[in-house]
Amino acid sequence: MKKTAILPALALALFLAPCASFAAPSTPGSYSLDFDATKYTVQTSTLDGKTFSYRAYEGIVYVQHPLDPAYETINIYVPVEYYSARTVGGYTIDNAPIFFPNSVGGYMPGAAAKPGLDFEGKPNALVVALSRGLIVAAPGARGRTLQDGSGRYTGKAPAAIVDLKAAVRYLRFNDKLIPGSSERIISNGTSAGGGLSALLGASGDNADYEPYLKALGAANARDDVYAVSAYCPITNLDNADSAYEWLLGGLTETKASTMGPPPAGAAAAATGAGAAMAPPAGMPAAAPTGAMGAAGATGAALPFGAPPSSGGPMTAEQLAVSARLKALFPAYLDGLGLRKADGTALALDASGDGSFRDYLKSLLIASAQTALKGGADLSKLDWVTIKDGVVTDIDWAGYVKYCGRKKAAPSFDGLDLSSGENSLFGTMSVNAQHFTAFGLANDASGTGAMASADLVRMMNPMAYIGAKGTTTSKYWRIRHGTVDSDTAIAIPAILATRLGNGGYSVDFALPWDRPHSGDYDLEELFTWIDGICR
Ligand code: DHB
Repeated sequence: MKKTAILPALALALFLAPCASFAAPSTPGSYSLDFDATKYTVQTSTLDGKTFSYRAYEGIVYVQHPLDPAYETINIYVPVEYYSARTVGGYTIDNAPIFFPNSVGGYMPGAAAKPGLDFEGKPNALVVALSRGLIVAAPGARGRTLQDGSGRYTGKAPAAIVDLKAAVRYLRFNDKLIPGSSERIISNGTSAGGGLSALLGASGDNADYEPYLKALGAANARDDVYAVSAYCPITNLDNADSAYEWLLGGLTETKASTMGPPPAGAAAAATGAGAAMAPPAGMPAAAPTGAMGAAGATGAALPFGAPPSSGGPMTAEQLAVSARLKALFPAYLDGLGLRKADGTALALDASGDGSFRDYLKSLLIASAQTALKGGADLSKLDWVTIKDGVVTDIDWAGYVKYCGRKKAAPSFDGLDLSSGENSLFGTMSVNAQHFTAFGLANDASGTGAMASADLVRMMNPMAYIGAKGTTTSKYWRIRHGTVDSDTAIAIPAILATRLGNGGYSVDFALPWDRPHSGDYDLEELFTWIDGICR
């Protein structure tokens, strides 16, 4: 990622850019749930030298009683060809899939995305989707830093997932009026947005969220989605700390890191034609306590991902915490009863060795093999064994060192309540709480309370896959780069394996040398979507 050095400055500039189009009314009114097919503009995008047009229905509030109408909106785009031709990219106006990209990063508020350029200046996923005949319905969602006029937090868990569900319900409720098939909704997201994409797919129609949806005046319709695309999902938060230490606990220092790239929608919203990026409304002027929100040297709050860090040795206390968290992981993993595709059990012994680790190693070997085939030079990596053009082995410790650790222990449930995830699990009146027993038991804030078990569950897709009264998405595509240490590769691997064991169709891979990022393989993503929809 050659551009990483400019990212913090770029994101800061985007964040500080004047924001015009989403001024939140101070007293939210009541909004109609009926889609108005006449209210659109025609916009254009260019891809590979070809310019094409689409109807743009933007800024639609998707619930009757939004808590923050700046974010509880959806942008819908329809290729104009559908109004004259019968098919586009092999789809009709009735059966075209609906690409549903959220733009959440860092569990911060995410404004509805627009077709435009991504942070590298390339056409974003919305443009590519439209060019291939997909309908795009890009939802905004509330996030952990939002506050209303009285200072109450309005975007703490489960706000973002409730919003995404409400947006899905809006699409289904209006299925006859909105082009495309609401039975072919493909959710997409990166990082926290990937976690939410996975949660949306796992928890379709589950009654736990119903009271929240009712309170917002969400449409009365189902909220399951057909398929999930999740890039580097920051998920399973209540087990992410122990997974992190199981994988990376041998490393005693954190690596220097730049801030992750902004999620698709954020860049698009700022660069799209005539677009204005929604302000992180209600974001406190000072940097929030969350690690994801503190922007290092500038001290400004940034809406994307983990903060840049100069890295350095962990303290003796952090090392002790690491060892204790690491020891918790085998029991968690073994309790899941995961199996490989051939039926063999995936387990770990008390020291953290075993078939689950071997399985991850086999995924890394497969990734290295793919990279080698694609022309990558792995010859300098002395921890990768190659014989006659075949990757035969990977030295685990060598890989771990190469990957590096981005975060000190604990990575998610900060003992001083300083992480972004602590802030995700706050309440209307409390900014940050613990969400693990370990965090609570070792609280260093002096005031740390625990989020309710219900809320912790409602943010974890693992709790919902195939659960009673739940429609879990049938198709899944999960990607997590081999050098992404925003969360441990064990976390997406556990999610993918649990899904596969449940009979769901899962395309899971660890792209070689890929850091924390998303939407980097759009050709493959949309080919996968065509494969499950045509
Ligand atoms: C994101 C990154 C993190 O490291 C994290 O803990 C949560 C979210 C993100 O990029 O969205």
